[in-house]
Amino acid sequence: MDNIQWKKFLIPYENAVEELKVKFKSIRNELRTIGEYSPIEFVTGRVKKVSSILEKAKKLDVSPEEIPDKIEDIAGIRIMCQFVEDIYTVVDYIRDRNGEDLEIVLEKDYITNFKDSGYRSYHVVIKYPIHTALGPKKILAEIQIRTLAMNFWAIIEHSLKYKYKQLIPPHIEDRLKKASDAAFKLDQEMSEIRHEIRQAQKVFEVRSNIVSSILQNIQSLYITGKVKEANEFQERFNRLWEKGDTIELKILDKEISNLTQKQQQYD
Ligand code: GTP
Ligand code: MG
Repeated sequence: MDNIQWKKFLIPYENAVEELKVKFKSIRNELRTIGEYSPIEFVTGRVKKVSSILEKAKKLDVSPEEIPDKIEDIAGIRIMCQFVEDIYTVVDYIRDRNGEDLEIVLEKDYITNFKDSGYRSYHVVIKYPIHTALGPKKILAEIQIRTLAMNFWAIIEHSLKYKYKQLIPPHIEDRLKKASDAAFKLDQEMSEIRHEIRQAQKVFEVRSNIVSSILQNIQSLYITGKVKEANEFQERFNRLWEKGDTIELKILDKEISNLTQKQQQYD
């Protein structure tokens, strides 16, 4: 295939990566907007480079015609989670969509069965329908779901593999296995205190929502010419902000909201 043909071949994969990124990011945004905990921390995606596709095809003895069926990670999505438990919540989301906007082809649980290298992640290979200029088409895509600790390890290991052209010296390989054990322990420890961490994050989120509401309302008082009131609220806010009392901030928020709402009714 020449350059143009490769470009054409990769278009549906590029579209799939973009669409899937949007879909998983919007789960996260939706949950955050309604003040709920999101099992998804962040999402990335990429289309495999032509050179890597060719390398993999050669390694697996795959002919050019077989590439779309045999190389399942040309379109790749990565979903990062805070806790191991979140991974399974995300897997359930994907399973819920099976037969809707995607089809699950296979699942690989490298979390209970981690690889010899020390690699841990949950993989779901899907068939994903895409609409091209030439009509509908189904392509394969690989979704990797992992914690932040698993991701940290995998990225470092991958860059070392790249540096040593797949042949990592034994003493470094050994260190990587130890690092993988440490990442595993970190995930375990975090899971133990998951409820406390989530509680603290929630408290922080509630407070930051109140603060942004107050500041927005002060701004709208300014804009509508109620400078005296705006200044008064700003001063009261500054005092409470220093004291750090969330309940009093909430009362202030209510007061200022009532005032700006009343004003909106008159406008
Ligand atoms: P390749 O590993 O890509 O040859 O594919 P495979 O058919 O063996 O599938 P597998 O599920 O083992 O791996 C798919 C993807 O998982 C890889 O492309 C990597 O992104 C990731 N992966 C698998 N094993 C490792 C590993 O040991 N280290 C790192 N960093 N990533 C891995
Ligand atoms: Mg492999």
